[in-house]
Amino acid sequence: MSYNLLKGKRGIIFGALDENSIAWKTAERAHEEGAQIVLTNAPIAMRMGKINELAEKTGSEIIPADATSEEDLKNLIEKSMEVLGGKLDFVLHSIGMSVNVRKGKHYTDQNYGFTEKGWDVSALSFHKVCQTLYKADAMTEWGSVVALTYMAAQRTFPDYNDMADNKAYLESIARSFGYFFGKDKKVRVNTISQSPTPTTAGKGVKGFDGFIAYADMMSPLGNATAAECADYTITLFSDLTKKVTMQNLFHDGGFSNTGVSNEVMEKFTK
Ligand code: NAI
Repeated sequence: MSYNLLKGKRGIIFGALDENSIAWKTAERAHEEGAQIVLTNAPIAMRMGKINELAEKTGSEIIPADATSEEDLKNLIEKSMEVLGGKLDFVLHSIGMSVNVRKGKHYTDQNYGFTEKGWDVSALSFHKVCQTLYKADAMTEWGSVVALTYMAAQRTFPDYNDMADNKAYLESIARSFGYFFGKDKKVRVNTISQSPTPTTAGKGVKGFDGFIAYADMMSPLGNATAAECADYTITLFSDLTKKVTMQNLFHDGGFSNTGVSNEVMEKFTK
């Protein structure tokens, strides 16, 4: 159902790889809600993914950008304003990748070259996106920037590996940049901490099937899906949440505040 929440708004969506991606669902919802969007992803991901299909469906242009490259980001933001015909009202950072996870390196045996690369892609890129937007004065007043994160930033999930540290850094950027973006330009910056979700990035986590089933059993409302995450993100892009900023917002069916559920207890009761 559409509420026209983003009617007349313009935005950039990073990270739609395929139809399972949280960014994909968000792009579809933003389009339904009346927004005009530019889609972007790393050049290599665009060759592997299906972003053209999404662009057609949402009537959007695609502008490739590696989110670790300041030059690519500058070009993306300038071109997006040209294509969309004005400043931006919202930006979604939906990017994550750990080279240590991909190469099967344990948290206690990291290759620090891999660690730095994963941190640049998953965490520092969020600062680069914010800084490029800020310097170009590319956001409208009351605009909204959102990045996606996971609760491993606060609690230990052993197989989340160095992504836990990357997410902690990412969430800190939302607070720190959110201060300056708010003061100087009246722009909101938040992170959404999403339930485990079966996407390419999600399934990369070791033991994902057990992990997602456990989270579902622990959450009074069950795991939040990618489509539900898109709905929540749309509210943060809308004018209905103008004073929400510098927050890490849990979108997890109640998981983060649950000590134990009866269903999980039953598994241990003879
Ligand atoms: P996904 O694999 O569909 O999306 C990750 C995206 O990051 C891909 O489109 C990939 O091409 C992009 N990317 C990687 N390197 C890049 C670079 N250098 N420049 C630009 N883009 C780059 O997976 P998903 O799950 O939709 O991930 C989106 C976000 O949601 C990530 O930040 C992830 O950590 C976060 N998240 C995912 C959860 C899950 O269980 N799937 C749970 C909580 C948060």
